Amino acid sequence: MSELVDFMFDNRKLRLALAIACLAIGAANAHAGDVSKGEKVFKKCMACHTVADKANKVGPYLTGLVNRPVASAEGYAYSDAMKEFASQQPAWDEAVLDKYLENPKAMVPKTKMAFAGLKKADERADLIAFLLTKQ
Ligand code: HEC
Repeated sequence: MSELVDFMFDNRKLRLALAIACLAIGAANAHAGDVSKGEKVFKKCMACHTVADKANKVGPYLTGLVNRPVASAEGYAYSDAMKEFASQQPAWDEAVLDKYLENPKAMVPKTKMAFAGLKKADERADLIAFLLTKQ
């Protein structure tokens, strides 16, 4: 009987240790992108963009942006630079979006998007995770 108790006790300790290890690994990998942090980052875009509907503001609506063809928001008057970029880059996949958001003018030099960029990789990953919830 006491052997059985020992075994159960050890087993619980083992499970506890495993749970702690999993939490630690989870925390280390957390940078796949955090949706709620991304929602806060999106505040920097809201002066010019919406993800709530298909309304164009200063910039085109970003609803359904991830994997959307470049320069394809209905009714939006894109710059020639963005239309030209669309002929080289078919769609806003996650990798292209990440690079564009780091420094928009490095990717599309004459874009009329007046935004310096998001220098922190974490912020861009969070933002993209948020945008993926607005497809
Ligand atoms: C000051 C206004 C402004 C801010 C702030 C801004 N943008 Fe823009 N954005 C624009 C304009 C204007 C365009 C159209 C660019 C063109 O036609 O050259 C644009 C275009 C884009 C495009 C291309 C969309 C398409 O349909 O091809 C993406 C992607 C984008 N913005 C993402 C963002 C994100 C994400 C943020 C916040 C981190 C942001 N923008 C902040 C004004 C802004």
